[in-house]
This record gives sequence, C-alpha cells and structure tokens, in this order.
Amino acid sequence: MSKIGVFDSGLGGLTVLFNLNNSNEYVYVADQKNNPYGEKTIEQLLDYSKKIVDFLISKGCDKIVIACNTVSANVSNELRKIYNEIEIIDVITETVKLINSEKYEKMKKILLIATEKTIESNMYQKLINKEVKGIATKDIVPAIENLASKKDIIKIIDRYLEKEKGKHDAILLGCTHYPIIKKEIEKYLQIKSIDSISAVSKYVDNISTKPDNNNNNLNDRKDDKYSNLEIYTTKDEKYLEKQIKEIFNKDIKVKILK
Ligand code: DGL
Repeated sequence: MSKIGVFDSGLGGLTVLFNLNNSNEYVYVADQKNNPYGEKTIEQLLDYSKKIVDFLISKGCDKIVIACNTVSANVSNELRKIYNEIEIIDVITETVKLINSEKYEKMKKILLIATEKTIESNMYQKLINKEVKGIATKDIVPAIENLASKKDIIKIIDRYLEKEKGKHDAILLGCTHYPIIKKEIEKYLQIKSIDSISAVSKYVDNISTKPDNNNNNLNDRKDDKYSNLEIYTTKDEKYLEKQIKEIFNKDIKVKILK
C-alpha cells in the first residue's frame, strides 16, 4: 500500500483522484486560494507547488501526482529536481503516450483546450506526433469552480469553440477540470474527447497496488471505500464539500490547510 499525495489548483484534480485505486491512502490538496493557476507566473506556480509538496511529504506521502496540467506543463521537471527522493507523476507524460499509441492512430487532427499557461508552454504540441491546434479557454475553470449552470457552461463552450466545429478528429481536454463537462463538449463538437484520467490512473495503480477494477466512470467509486482519504483546501472547506457533493455526488469531510 502506498500513501499518495495528489494536488491541483482546485477541484479539477479530483477527477483523477476518484479514479485511482481506492486501496491506497491519499491526501489531496486543492489550492483554491490561488485558483486559477492558468494565469500565474512560473515563479508563482513553483512557489505554490513547493508549499503543497512539502505539506504532502510531511503527511507521509511517498508518491505525488500533479493532477494539474498547468503545473505539469510548466514546473514538473523543476519539482522533480528539488524532490528527487520521491516519485512525482505529472498528467501529461502518460496522456501523450496514449495519444501517440496505435489506439489513436486514426486521429490525425487534435484540438487541445487548456489554460493559457499550458497552451503557452507548448508541451502537448511538442510531444504529440499529430497536428495539434491549441486554444486557451481561460473562463472554463472559474465557471466550474463557481458551480456555473450547464446552460452557462455551454455558452462559454460556444464562445471558444464555435469556429472549430467539423475541423478536428478529437478534442484533448488539457485541464483536469474539463472532464467534468466532457459530455457537453463532446455533444457540442460531435467528436470524442481524450483526457488524462485513464492513462494516469493506470500508471499510478501499476506503481502502487493492483487495481481492483478498471472502472473509469467519475462517480462509480464510492467514497466509503476510501478508508484513508484526506482532502484539504487552502480556502473554504464547507464550499469544497458542497462542490464535491454537487459535482461528484460524494459526502466527504474537507479540512483547511492554512
Ligand atoms: N486543473 C488545472 C489544470 O489542469 C486548472 C488550472 C487553473 O487553475 O487554471 O490545468
């Protein structure tokens, strides 16, 4: 059994966490005080991440999953250099391997949506061996964090993606918040989406314990099965509890991390 630390700027990383094998122990940090990360500088991203990783190590975590594309794209190598005694897993490496694999051979044109900082880093565009068009969709994370209605989310999708209809084979959700609105995006563009959940959870399950199932549905793993899950937020614990209930339909007690 491993103790695994998982973090993101907010609730997005929970899309990854809730699909990890629940026989491990987990500590999750949502840095909601500093959300969104997409418009922060590299120095700020490194500073926030270091504080969180220090906290996760102090809780006894021996592996850390950066469940945030913005941090993965911009400072994951720096973090690996600083914390070379633990394994740090980003959400981009395994996702890119999956996209470059035979499974996606027929997908030639990929539309990437992500935060400004992820698009600017060019990480996905450099690593994927296909045509990739990147669009920074900066209003989506705040809308999800604010529990915007589906109607408002669709308005935002329409604003960013109207001109992209019919031009791509698949859409890559380059932000861990986006799987929450996967159905709306797929329906709008009439193409399949790709996200980091299955690739990352497969990798993490393999390096920790044997997965007890291969179920990748967001709401299918019941929280009562997590005997050892602690969730922290840097902002408002009651609000994150409400977000988790509304989005993932789970009742989980959240603690504050000052
Ligand atoms: N979930 C984060 C990501 O994957 C969101 C970043 C943000 O807070 O802007 O990039």
